[in-house]
Amino acid sequence: MCLRVRCLSAPSVEAPTSEKNLVDLKEQQWALQGCSLTCTFARTAASANCTLRRNPTSTWDTRGQYQPLSLKVSKRRPVRWALIELDDAIKGRRSIRSYKDEPVSIELVLEVLEAGTWAPSAKNGQQWRFTVLTGDAKTRLAGLFRSELQALSAKIGMERMGSSFGSCKAMEEAPVLVMVWNANKLRTLEESSLQSVAAAIQNMFLKAYSLGLGSLWICDVYYASDALTKHLGKPWTLVAAVALGWPAQSPEPRLRKSVEEVSEFLEQCAR
Ligand SMILES: Cc1cc2nc3c(=O)[nH]c(=O)nc-3n(C[C@H](O)[C@H](O)[C@H](O)COP(=O)(O)O)c2cc1C
Repeated sequence: MCLRVRCLSAPSVEAPTSEKNLVDLKEQQWALQGCSLTCTFARTAASANCTLRRNPTSTWDTRGQYQPLSLKVSKRRPVRWALIELDDAIKGRRSIRSYKDEPVSIELVLEVLEAGTWAPSAKNGQQWRFTVLTGDAKTRLAGLFRSELQALSAKIGMERMGSSFGSCKAMEEAPVLVMVWNANKLRTLEESSLQSVAAAIQNMFLKAYSLGLGSLWICDVYYASDALTKHLGKPWTLVAAVALGWPAQSPEPRLRKSVEEVSEFLEQCAR
């Protein structure tokens, strides 16, 4: 059995299982396997509240898709499902700035980080480093960030603080914060290793989205990068913070420039 599904809400509650519903759902899944990738689990979502769990013993197949899934019927929490394609992830991902007050399991965080580690990198240097903050550690860091922003705004004025306070609020709300560092030591590789780390972050975002998690790329940490780096005691350069959590909003897509606007095609050498 090999299904690519996306759980669109937190798969965290396990409730009494109705054997009959379980069988029904399984049958629907089997039946859906032959469908084209545009088909969704609308009937499942409409007809039952269920929880998706990845079988802890399952592995990844060669295409990196989910293998066996176990379904448990839950009376408590509706879960919606959808098949996920690369294009869905690229075009469906949004910056999420509001999060539910629900934890994210370490397994999911690890999946997101692992996706980051599959990014291409300059000279395969894998210059990314991740510091994952949850609970008190995250609260303290977000608190430090807020107090640094307040001190700075008192000096330079609120109008020069951009989106920083909004980013701080997202950091406070998100249950998981990943500080992403560039561990490159060679000056000559400075720009290319920064690109490697950015590629890792994008991979993480696509993976997070495929798991139903919301994410936010936060470069506003630059407003306080010295203080944040010192607080965490790292010898690396801070690239960004990544907020992760269950989305409490579904923003409309932001306007994109067309391919024509941002591309040129050359057939002859320019003079
Ligand atoms: C390098 C980078 C830095 C960003 N920094 C912030 C930030 O500090 N705060 C924030 O709210 N959004 C930040 N964003 C998110 C952008 O505002 C967002 O990607 C953009 O508006 C497009 O929206 P979308 O991600 O929903 O498509 C950042 C994005 C990138 C790629």
